[in-house]
Amino acid sequence: MEKTVRAHTNIALIKYWGKADSDLRLPLMSSLSMTLDKFYTDTKISDSLENQFWLNGVKQNGQSSSRVFSFLKLLQKKFAVTGKLKVESYNHVPTAAGLASSSSAFAALAGAFCLHYGFNLSSVELSRLARLGSGSASRSIYGGFAIWRKGHDDESSYAYALDEKPDIDLRLLVVELNNQQKDLSSTQGMKQAQTSPFFMPWIARNQTELKQMISAIKANDFSTIGSLAELNACEMHAVNLTAQPDFTYFEPATIKAIKLIADLRSQGIECYFTIDAGPNIKILSQLKNVKDITNRFVSEFDNVNIINASFGPGISCLN
Ligand code: DP6
Repeated sequence: MEKTVRAHTNIALIKYWGKADSDLRLPLMSSLSMTLDKFYTDTKISDSLENQFWLNGVKQNGQSSSRVFSFLKLLQKKFAVTGKLKVESYNHVPTAAGLASSSSAFAALAGAFCLHYGFNLSSVELSRLARLGSGSASRSIYGGFAIWRKGHDDESSYAYALDEKPDIDLRLLVVELNNQQKDLSSTQGMKQAQTSPFFMPWIARNQTELKQMISAIKANDFSTIGSLAELNACEMHAVNLTAQPDFTYFEPATIKAIKLIADLRSQGIECYFTIDAGPNIKILSQLKNVKDITNRFVSEFDNVNIINASFGPGISCLN
């Protein structure tokens, strides 16, 4: 019986948005994330007569399958192993744009690969491998808060746990405003963002922002965590808006949600947002305000879906 590996999605509070090396997926900045309990990918790999990738019970062809197998072939080459593989993944993630993150997918895939061939790697080694599939996957090896240090080569670029079981009142409300598939992938978006005149200033701020976020987490300071995360997300989306040619992931509903959060805050309901490569927003809040925030979003938007997430665990092997 082949075993299943589970990896949870993470959401960056200090974002990765630019590469120094696309092949090795070396980032231009360090990033910091929160792993979520509600969203994860389960993946199992077995021997097969042909390479095949099944997602949520459906056999995949085309882009998603070729990305999976170019990653697996890279790992096979690295470890000098061979064989055709059947990959079966289940994404327990809403299908909406910007929520179905590649972080859990490639972390689970790296874990399932090691399990299949019997390699017993450390978390850091696994993080490096996952990074080669998708940068953000390097952080999904850990639960709680993780930091991906940018490093300068394959060896030095990996994630580590800042705090795997944070004792902090922080919820992440994942708000599904729009379930259209995004038309510009993160990989493409971050490449185009590098043409912005604000790209270098954004990189230059990375170490300061990271240090401030680490201090805020250590001090259990929700307000500072929230405002730093919101600022960092706005910076990322500002480089998109000033890229040449410019682009944005925002939809009208995204702007409406941003304004609603400012409004809630002015009424004393403290909350902050972060946004990734899609139109949906994630709200940072404390438990006591979840109900008010949810009610307000439900009354202002049609068909809004809100998932109340908290800290999730690191990668694990099931059964
Ligand atoms: C906005 O990890 O999906 O979510 O390395 O090209 O696969 P690739 O990019 P990916 O980018 C994630 C971008 C982000 C921010 C983040 O998670 O840090």
